[in-house]
Amino acid sequence: MKSAELRQKFLEFFEKRGHKIVPSASLIPQDTTTLFNSAGMQPLVPYLLGEKHPAGKRIVDIQKCFRTVDIDEVGDDTHNTFFEMLGNWSLGDYWKEDSIRWSFEFLTDKNELNIPIQRLAVSCFGGDENAPKDEESAKIWENIGISKERIIFLPKEDNWWGPVGESGPCGPDTEIFYWKNNNVPVPQKFDPTDKNWVEIWNNVFMQYVKTADGEYMTAEQKNVDTGMGFERTLAVLNGYENIYETDVLQPLISKISEYTNSEDFRGKRIVADHIRATTFMISDGIEFSNTDRGYVMRRILRKAAYYCNSMNLEKIGLADLVEIVIKIYEGVYPLDGNKVCQSVKKEVSLFSKTLATGKKKYEEGEDAFILFTTYGFPPELIKELDKENGKERDWVLFEQKMKEHQELSRTASAGMFKGGLADHEPATVKLHTAHHLLLAALQELFGKQVKQRGSNINQERLRIDFSFDRKITPEEIKKLEDIVNDKIGQGLDVVRREMPIGEAQKIGAEMEFGVKYGNTVSVYFIEDKKGNTVSKEFCGGPHVANTKELGKFKIVKEEASSQGVRRIKAILQ
Ligand code: SER
Repeated sequence: MKSAELRQKFLEFFEKRGHKIVPSASLIPQDTTTLFNSAGMQPLVPYLLGEKHPAGKRIVDIQKCFRTVDIDEVGDDTHNTFFEMLGNWSLGDYWKEDSIRWSFEFLTDKNELNIPIQRLAVSCFGGDENAPKDEESAKIWENIGISKERIIFLPKEDNWWGPVGESGPCGPDTEIFYWKNNNVPVPQKFDPTDKNWVEIWNNVFMQYVKTADGEYMTAEQKNVDTGMGFERTLAVLNGYENIYETDVLQPLISKISEYTNSEDFRGKRIVADHIRATTFMISDGIEFSNTDRGYVMRRILRKAAYYCNSMNLEKIGLADLVEIVIKIYEGVYPLDGNKVCQSVKKEVSLFSKTLATGKKKYEEGEDAFILFTTYGFPPELIKELDKENGKERDWVLFEQKMKEHQELSRTASAGMFKGGLADHEPATVKLHTAHHLLLAALQELFGKQVKQRGSNINQERLRIDFSFDRKITPEEIKKLEDIVNDKIGQGLDVVRREMPIGEAQKIGAEMEFGVKYGNTVSVYFIEDKKGNTVSKEFCGGPHVANTKELGKFKIVKEEASSQGVRRIKAILQ
């Protein structure tokens, strides 16, 4: 079975049963507490909590997902970073009976997936102090025709889903397993530890909401959330040993194999998975950077580049593989081929020097700490090289050295300038407030992912280092100046408030990466006349009382500071 057929069958099956087809949400979640959408339920959380979905109470979708937890497993038969998840949803509508029956029908009906009942087994929640044993689901399975020996009860670690993050909707689930081995007869009794049983579908019965205090409350609205791992299901249905044989990954593997004699199948799979994920991430608006999502993407692309290099794949670049990804998903997802190719090329060229030097220094026997801090060669690639060379390394010692190193550089910069300020002269204080306005303007123009990386202010000028990985155009410079000057012109009050660090983090006050703060912190707010926050930063001050004291703001220089970090110098006239 091809990917297109599985997608279509799934959507149509549930559409016929009153579900509205909803397109996938972006990989970037709306809720900013997590980095990526990692399950179909994540973009639907508000609706699972009771908000009305515009498409109604029955929804079917295929959600793009990205999971970081499995990054190190990628290369084996079943793990991906990026994957698709098929899901049907009841938002306060049907419950266990319909959900289980429809899953069963979709899997076994001869017009649908036509799986023999003999090859299926299920698990249900065994109960604990928060929720009872799910006898109801087990009974439904039995009535449908799953034999008792193929139904088992498992604890919360196995048969419970959610919440994503600390709190939110969750509940017991029932998982459906498929016997994948064509050469070994299916055993009568279901043993989930036997690797021939592959979990293909998970039906979650969300009847609880976990609170921030760890309590399980009965949900006001009972929902069904089902999730079927697309690549994995496609592989088992076709009798493939691994997901890389499916038509959403195989063209990548075969292209890679055309250009290398290497037998490193794990390396090829890593390249295929990581370039596919990167293509989706860039198309959804993620940019390479040294923080958050952009950093995760940087890590996977660099790992892919490392493997291209080690398999002598110079003749095709990663950008050529992007084109294959685009072809695979033509008509399925809108992907931005040009943008992806450009960003990938740029990132690969940035990294190629680091990679060459890093490898050379590695061969010369350089220590991991030096490889990282002096040559920028990332630990995960040192680990890959160690694996190839059968080398053991003391990573605890590495962590220890890193910690000492960070503390040292913190103390060094603190010693030079108190909080980045040369003195407390009026001119310096004014530039300090302008510095806050500039950071806010950078975020307004380029997004919240822009973070401060360093600052230095004296009576003549301010200097800010921030995460951003391309040159800023003259038009953008002008826009930044306009934004800051507009705030100055509005005559906004600058207010200092003290609060516990937890609260300051909760309201999203800006803090500088790598800087340690105490339990009670001071946060400086600049608010406009309507009470909207223009800027909020963890900061010891001092500042002017009102922005009108600043005069005219002007950017005098914009340059690279280090990789992925830009530097701006600005003055007040
Ligand atoms: N939320 C469940 C999962 O991700 C079912 O969709 O497995």
